[in-house]
Amino acid sequence: METNKILGAIILALLLAAAFSKIADLTVHPEFPKELAYKIEIPEDGSSSAQEEVNIFEVLPEITPLLASADMANGEKLFKKCASCHTYQKGGENKAGPAMWGIVNRSKASVDGFAYSGALANFGGDWSVEELNRFLLKPKKYVTGTKMNFNGLKKDQDRADLIKWLNSLSD
Ligand code: HEC
Repeated sequence: METNKILGAIILALLLAAAFSKIADLTVHPEFPKELAYKIEIPEDGSSSAQEEVNIFEVLPEITPLLASADMANGEKLFKKCASCHTYQKGGENKAGPAMWGIVNRSKASVDGFAYSGALANFGGDWSVEELNRFLLKPKKYVTGTKMNFNGLKKDQDRADLIKWLNSLSD
């Protein structure tokens, strides 16, 4: 009799436990999201920020459409930012930077007697208005390793004004 009571109690307890867990399953539906709520992107190496910098130039609008209405007088005024390192006159000498006479469409790093950085010397191509546009936006980011110590001109219209004026520095 006594053993039966104990066995009965154990069986009852097990049945109750099973029933409760079934009820709990039926009433609460925990749903686990398949992805973490806060995804943390960990770049594989340090290159992701360099990638973004390159993209600045890829998405930069062309300067040519702004040149037609660009303001030469403002361009000449803006050249004051460059004049500590660059001359603009015909036959002007090199200073800390190479002479600017005839700069537009000239081959890069081609002024005789100026010691260019390897970065600019090996960059290749001409100083078209679009190349000047990219370089003058952020010199050190466009030509990584250039020794031109200038932060750049942020405003599109300023670069257009200056480039239009630079274009006048030729016969
Ligand atoms: C602090 C001095 C400094 C200032 C300011 C400066 N530059 Fe330069 N610039 C240089 C130097 C140095 C180089 C040569 C860079 C190299 O060899 O990497 C250079 C190179 C250049 C070149 C390439 C020339 C070539 O022959 O390939 C252009 C174009 C240029 N500068 C335009 C400008 C303009 C426009 C400004 C003003 C908005 C300016 N720079 C401001 C020092 C300066």
